[in-house]
Amino acid sequence: ALEGILRGRRVVITAGPTREPLDPVRYLSNHSSGKMGYALAEAARDAGARVVLVSGPVSLAPPAGVEVRPVVTAEDMLGATLAAVDEGCDLFVATAAVADYRPQNRAGDKIKKSSETLTVSLVRNPDILATVAARPGAPFTVGFAAETRDVARYATDKMARKNLRMIVANDVSVPGLGFNSDRNAVTVFWPGGQAQIGPDSKQAIATRLVALISEQMDKSA
Ligand code: PMT
Repeated sequence: ALEGILRGRRVVITAGPTREPLDPVRYLSNHSSGKMGYALAEAARDAGARVVLVSGPVSLAPPAGVEVRPVVTAEDMLGATLAAVDEGCDLFVATAAVADYRPQNRAGDKIKKSSETLTVSLVRNPDILATVAARPGAPFTVGFAAETRDVARYATDKMARKNLRMIVANDVSVPGLGFNSDRNAVTVFWPGGQAQIGPDSKQAIATRLVALISEQMDKSA
């Protein structure tokens, strides 16, 4: 069904978690496995696109025929994403679970155990999705939204605020779906429409998503 629908298109996808170092041996991160983003990269490849996958640290094999660019921190992910977008990009999809904050200071040596409590100051990370969407000549930009409540409202707010063409909302409060599982269920929103996909395998969801995205790209062309 995906046969050629993204032929000739250049696609950049972010996937996985980021890691924000506290010291040489510790970091802040989250439970993203990268599975959703990797499945989407494979579906876009199968649809005929040239795909660059900017990936945080995951334990998945690099998909054949997809260019994987590994990164660690949110700042690395921003740099690699902007570089990939600048090389030419028709479609950007942000599936990564980027850490919103990073430790203000990265200790040069391992933090030693001393007092009973330890306070860590965090600073905001750049928003990769909003940065790409706000650039002149931005690609068709699709975001994900991981929410635990009021999924539709928060997701459509995010779409408007970040200037996105579509948003894929994930209710991550449902056990067995979303973060670090093989299955997912999402609601996709775009100006004037919405679609429910799943529960299903992340591969099946990725296939439907690529079909929906390509349809909306053609409409806005
Ligand atoms: O990796 P898996 O285990 O397969 O799990 C998939 C998933 C649940 C991680 C994925 O489906 C998902 O929902 N990804 C988005 C997770 C997220 O961080 O959502 P958010 O609502 O915090 O962010 C909103 C959007 O902004 C996302 O597209 C995110 O990639 C992007 N973002 C957020 C913060 C930031 N600093 N930069 C960003 O680009």
